[in-house]
Amino acid sequence: PVLVVDFGAQYAQLIARRVREADVYSEIVPHTISADEVRAKDPAAIILSGGPSSVYAEGAPSLDPGILGLGVPTLGICYGFQVMATQLGGEVARTGRREYGSTHATLTGEDSSILAGQPAEQTVWMSHGDSVARAPEGFAVLATTADTPVAAFADERRHLYGVQWHPEVLHSEHGQEVMSAFLHDAAGIADDWTAGSIIQEQVERIRAQIGDKKVICGLSGGVDSAVAAALVQEAVGDQLICVFVDHGLLRQGERTQVERDFVAVTGVRLVTVDAREQFLTALAGVSEPEQKRKIIGREFIRSFEQAQLELVREAQDGDGEEVRFLVQGTLYPDVVESGGGSGTANIKSHHNVGGLPDDLRFELVEPLRTLFKDEVRAIGRELGLPEEIVGRQPFPGPGLGIRIIGEVTQERLDLLREADAIVRVELTEAGLDQEIWQCPVVLLADVRSVGVQGDGRTYGHPIVLRPVSSEDAMTADWTRVPYGVLARISNRITNEVEGVNRVVLDVTSKPPGTIEWE
Ligand code: XMP
Repeated sequence: PVLVVDFGAQYAQLIARRVREADVYSEIVPHTISADEVRAKDPAAIILSGGPSSVYAEGAPSLDPGILGLGVPTLGICYGFQVMATQLGGEVARTGRREYGSTHATLTGEDSSILAGQPAEQTVWMSHGDSVARAPEGFAVLATTADTPVAAFADERRHLYGVQWHPEVLHSEHGQEVMSAFLHDAAGIADDWTAGSIIQEQVERIRAQIGDKKVICGLSGGVDSAVAAALVQEAVGDQLICVFVDHGLLRQGERTQVERDFVAVTGVRLVTVDAREQFLTALAGVSEPEQKRKIIGREFIRSFEQAQLELVREAQDGDGEEVRFLVQGTLYPDVVESGGGSGTANIKSHHNVGGLPDDLRFELVEPLRTLFKDEVRAIGRELGLPEEIVGRQPFPGPGLGIRIIGEVTQERLDLLREADAIVRVELTEAGLDQEIWQCPVVLLADVRSVGVQGDGRTYGHPIVLRPVSSEDAMTADWTRVPYGVLARISNRITNEVEGVNRVVLDVTSKPPGTIEWE
C-alpha cells in the first residue's frame, strides 16, 4: 500500500482518495506509527499529510525519525513537508506570516520527477504559517512563492520529495499531476487499483471468511448495503440471504425500491421484517441524538437476530444451520472517523461502526471497509446494479429518526415523509441531483411558530432544508439552490403538509455545522 501518515487535519482522507484516483491503493495510518510498524506494512510509498500545528508548537505531532531512513519513496505535504525538512537538517522559520488560499508558485526549473513537464507558473493552494527557509543537504529547491523561498524540494537520490502546497486540493491547478507523478514516476507504482481488481480481491476475501456457511445481509435501500450485498452474492451465491428491516424511519417509496428493484436485478433471496412498531416503542420519549442512534442500532441488530431465528426454524427441514455472518456496508471514512484508522477525534459516535450491542452474535463481513464512496459506486456499476441504486444520494442508517429534532412519533414521521418527498421530487425535477450531495429535510418538532393561512392563525412546525454540496461528507458547503426552486418547495410544503407553516434554509457549511442536524 501507499501509507498516508495522518498529522491530525482532515486532509489525510482527501490525500488517500487522490491516491486511489491515481489507481493506487492507499491506507491512512496515525503519525504515531513506528518505523518498524511501517516496515512491516512494506509500503510502496509514504505520504506525510498536512496538519493543523506548527512544527515548533508544544506537543506538535511528530514522526519516528527512522521512517525517513527506510528507503521508501516519501512525499511530504505542507506540515509533512516541514517535518521532513526539520528532521533532515533543513530549517523551518517562524515567519509569523500566514499564506492561505490560492497562491502563485514559480518553478525553479530544477529537474525532478514530481514536477516534470509542469508549467513554470501555476496556482497552488496554501495553508501554512511557518515556512521552510533552507532545504536539507542533498535537496534541490523546485519551487518558490512570493513569501516562501522553498515551496517544494526533492532529493531524487533518496526518493524524498516535499511540497508546501496542497496537491490533493482541487484548487491546486496541477495537484493531481503531482500525486500521479510521485506515485507512478518517482515511486514507480503500477496503476492497478481498479473496480475490477477490487471486486476480484474482495470476492476472494469473502469466500475465505465465509466458507460454505450462510450469511445474512441487511439492505437499507442505500448504495452501500446494496453493493455490499451484490459483492457477497458474487462471492458465495445463494448462501446469502438479504433481510430488509422496515423500521418505519424510511422515506416514501423506499421499501418498494428494495423489494422490487433490487431483487429484480440481483435475484437475491429477500426477507422483509416489519419492525415499525418495535422501533416506535423503543424510541418513545427519547430526544437525545446519540441515544436515538444507540437505540436504533440496537433494535436493528435485534431485528436481525429475530430474522435469523426464523430462518433457522425455516431451514429445519434442510441442514438447520445457524446464520453466523452479517454483512455490513461500513465504508473507510466511517472507520477513520470512528477512530479505527487514526488518532482523529470521534466527532459523532458510531455512524455504522459502533452502536452494536455487546452481545452481538454475528461475525461481521465488511467488504467495503477499505473503500471510499466513489469506489463503492464504481464497483456497483461494474457489478451491473442499476443507476437508481448506485447513484442514490446518501441517507443515514438511523433514517428520519435523526431528522426529527425531538421525540420520534408516528405522526411526526408521516409529516416529515411527506415534506421530504416533495423536496426530492422538486430537486430532481430542477436537475439538481448531481450538484447536491444530499439534502436532509429536518422537522423541528419541538419548535412552533405563528403563521397565517386563509383567515386563520396557525401555530405549526418549521421544516429545515439542508442541501449540501460535498465530495466526501467530511466537509461540505450549502448548495446555492435557485430561489425559484426554493420558492416552489416552500409553497408546496406549506400548502400540502398539514402542521407545517414555515420552511427555512440552512446556510451553514461543514465545518462548523455537520450535515445532519443530529
Ligand atoms: P454529518 O452529519 O456527520 O454526516 O456531517 C456525514 C454523513 O454521514 C451521514 N450520517 C450517518 N450515516 N448513520 C449513518 O449511516 C448515522 O448515524 C449517520 N449520521 C450521519 C450523513 O447523512 C452524511 O452523509
